[in-house]
Amino acid sequence: MKLNNKQLKKINENGYIILSGCFSNKEVNNLRKEMKKVFKEKSEANIIEKSSGVVRTAMGLHLRSKIFNNLTRHPKFFEPASQIIGHNLYIQQTKINIKAAFTGEVWQWHYDFATHFGEDGVPKPLALNLHVYLDDVTEFNGPLFFIPKSHKYGSAPSKLDTVTTNYPLWVVDHKNVKDLVKKNGIVSAHGKAGTVVIFVDKLVHGSAQNMSPMDRAIFSVILNPCDNKQTKFVRPEYKHGRDFKPIKASSNKSLL
Ligand code: SIN
Ligand code: MN
Repeated sequence: MKLNNKQLKKINENGYIILSGCFSNKEVNNLRKEMKKVFKEKSEANIIEKSSGVVRTAMGLHLRSKIFNNLTRHPKFFEPASQIIGHNLYIQQTKINIKAAFTGEVWQWHYDFATHFGEDGVPKPLALNLHVYLDDVTEFNGPLFFIPKSHKYGSAPSKLDTVTTNYPLWVVDHKNVKDLVKKNGIVSAHGKAGTVVIFVDKLVHGSAQNMSPMDRAIFSVILNPCDNKQTKFVRPEYKHGRDFKPIKASSNKSLL
């Protein structure tokens, strides 16, 4: 799945792109079946919500499941990523953020590079975050909010928040969020199951609590150029992959 020049320009200007209809219902159903299995596993890579105790995020999925390993390397992720950040890429992180019906908690305002730099010593903000929606994502079930163009304004100061949720995150303070939103507003990243979303390492984003009766599962892979790999090795492998060999694309049919 190659992106055209207009799409590449959009990512460069806005910091993200939303591509509907990328994966079929059959592929999404197969992924959802596997998701249910990995959520049941007793694993420290399954991080639970602070209040409800249900799974919030299941990490290290390319290490835990064949189909998620294939998805991580899928041409629909690998080809656009290669066009944007080059061909020599390693798998920095894979996960599903479920944001369960009624109980899914917030992801505070942040940009990924603050954590990649602060926790893992990744030198430059080059990594790309690629999502596929495993549920329909609507205005009601906790969609991601993006601040368009927020990657263009240097690095907003960030602070490590270990209190709000069970997932430690380097977050952007409200004053900076207010200033960025004043300039370029907020976009809510809606889409049907099978939609792909791609966004850059310094784009400020977050999502609210899910108080709807619908789950909101999103698979995410972060790919990073091999020559921009982590320099600190404190976090476990399920949070930052340790295989720095360039990946090869899987087959287009590998999810069927
Ligand atoms: C993330 O920023 O990685 C997660 C946000 C979300 O799942 O809503
Ligand atoms: Mn993020």
